[in-house]
Amino acid sequence: MNVLVVGGAGYIGSHCVRQLLAAGHQPVVLDNLIYGHRAAVAEEVPFYTVNLGNEKEVGKILRKESIELVMHFAACAYVGESVTDPMKYYFNNVAATLHLLRCMMGSGVKKFVFSSTCATYGVPEKMPLVETMPQAPINPYGQTKLDVENALKAFAAAYGLSFAAFRYFNAAGAAEDGSIGEHHHPETHLIPLAIDAATGARPPLQVFGNDYPTPDGTCLRDYVHVDDLSRAHIAVFDYLTTPGAALFYNLGTGTPTSVLAVIRAVEKVTGLTVPYNLAPRRAGDPPALYADSIKAQNELGWLIQYPDITSIVATAWKWHEAHPKGFAK
Ligand code: UFG
Repeated sequence: MNVLVVGGAGYIGSHCVRQLLAAGHQPVVLDNLIYGHRAAVAEEVPFYTVNLGNEKEVGKILRKESIELVMHFAACAYVGESVTDPMKYYFNNVAATLHLLRCMMGSGVKKFVFSSTCATYGVPEKMPLVETMPQAPINPYGQTKLDVENALKAFAAAYGLSFAAFRYFNAAGAAEDGSIGEHHHPETHLIPLAIDAATGARPPLQVFGNDYPTPDGTCLRDYVHVDDLSRAHIAVFDYLTTPGAALFYNLGTGTPTSVLAVIRAVEKVTGLTVPYNLAPRRAGDPPALYADSIKAQNELGWLIQYPDITSIVATAWKWHEAHPKGFAK
């Protein structure tokens, strides 16, 4: 299938491009390279540096490349920044997505795979999270993703769009061969910061809060390997053949892992010590977030190949050892 991967030079998008190639599909990347890295995508993959607001150009690409399905990874994804600069989030995450969807409808492309997030659930009352639980985001980032989910439902009913929205938990790790991996600027995610603290590339890690109602007092998260995430995006293709299909899936391993457990995993994998300080809680961090992803496993046959934090961190470390400064550009 010819697949347009919007945000294909970003962290999750670039891993998905490789999985598409491995599965025999033809990815075409569209990325404005504000956050993405050209080097994260193989030279031979058609690559367009375009903004989604440029509907004329995006429409041309859809037609020229005979695109059958669009995967949309491009978004701003810093929870804290979404609180201080919500305008940026509504424009980049909601308005830009509407431009893309309007182009798709205009060009007759009616299959869509959307990157959503567990942040749409807010602070859940029960755990693990099931897709049918109430969604009440507590920050603009989560709200913008929920807004798009809702638009997609309406478009499916009105225009026959078929879509899957995947609610990611904590994407982590890197390609098994260490050739591509996580490189954000700024970096705020726990695993790359813990690795950099271990190697001395950054100051000691700040552990945000050890007084949460969790077994060791630090937050529990559900770290899911980026290649496992990617594979779910391809497994859903067969379910998007019915016009108007509206599918929602949690993607996480279901295993809650504390911040201190991540530190221990980094120490085990690297053989180094992770220096850290206890710091106050970070605003907006729920104590625990982990998935029930039985629906994806049962319906899509989604197989989690990296079920434990050590195997996930091992791939992140392989990428880091080969590229201590990330991508060159
Ligand atoms: N943490 C630290 N120190 C750090 C960085 C993180 O203690 O320097 C802790 C956080 O408090 C949190 C855990 O490590 O408990 C994981 O934090 P990340 O920043 O790596 O990830 P988040 O869980 O905050 O964010 C992820 C995604 C977001 C998504 C969010 C939903 O990266 O895109 O889950 O809550 F919105």
